Amino acid sequence: WPVHAPYIAAINALKREKNAVILAHNYMTPEIFHGVADFVGDSLQLARLAAKTEAKLIVQAGVHFMAETSKVLSPEKTVLIPDPQAGCSLAASITGADVRLLKQTYPGLPVVTYVNTSAEVKAESDVCCTSSNAVAVVEDIAREWGVDTVIMVPDEFLAQNVAKLTKIKVITWKGHCEVHERFTAETIRDFRDSHPGVIVIAHPECPPSVVAEADFAGSTSGMIDFVAQKQPQKVVLVTECSMSDNVAVEFPKVDFVRPCNLCPHMKMITLPKILHALQTNTVEVTVDAAIAERAKKAVERMLAVPV
Ligand code: 13P
Ligand code: SF4
Repeated sequence: WPVHAPYIAAINALKREKNAVILAHNYMTPEIFHGVADFVGDSLQLARLAAKTEAKLIVQAGVHFMAETSKVLSPEKTVLIPDPQAGCSLAASITGADVRLLKQTYPGLPVVTYVNTSAEVKAESDVCCTSSNAVAVVEDIAREWGVDTVIMVPDEFLAQNVAKLTKIKVITWKGHCEVHERFTAETIRDFRDSHPGVIVIAHPECPPSVVAEADFAGSTSGMIDFVAQKQPQKVVLVTECSMSDNVAVEFPKVDFVRPCNLCPHMKMITLPKILHALQTNTVEVTVDAAIAERAKKAVERMLAVPV
């Protein structure tokens, strides 16, 4: 990538000089994912990496809630986000006050909160989950509380998809991922009609009708592992566009069927903004100490669940 090369060189040099690490989500563009990231992964893997890295400076190549999660887990470290406007429709769908109201409405039930939320919402929660551990977390907290129902917020579709895989009942919220809610069962049937033999892999933030049409559903890293293990001739990743771009580099023999949907928030993170973040030590992510302490408990409770 000739246009990216000077940025990649400058970022990698500055990163070494400052002893910083770049944690990049699987939805970052290939020049970030392959060019400057020290660690890549899904939300769960990034949270685990943030908790264990020894670097004092973390640059989060992802959206704001991911940077907040890193800060909550490592309050002593400096966490930079290259663009603080990089939000998430799920995180924007619910507030801490909403969760308090849900707890009043359904007393005695634990609150399982998707990591795609603000620290304030996590602070009101009993445990967090990601798409790769949601079933295990729901079953673990229900067992601990001795209940057969949990409150699971804010992703309605993830909660419905989880409910199909467990006996635990789920009370949910009306939040949706603006990227995954746009896929329909018809989209999947069209993929199959126009690409006979295609293997369909969907993210569990998709509506249940889409997941029902898929051959496999899993987190972004679960999708990558599936492609690595099965190496299908033709595959469609029913998720954000950069996934196929990133994975295609590693599996040149696999034919990746598009289209896909773009996440406008993830795409706000660019090489020039990452370089600027490292040059200026901005924008630093901060979380109120009292909120961070309570949010940390919910995230750490999640990290303790075996998957
Ligand atoms: P995972 O990487 O955990 O599957 O999450 C997907 C996502 O939409 C993150 O914003
Ligand atoms: Fe949020 Fe969806 Fe974008 Fe992920 S892909 S950051 S869930 S809007």
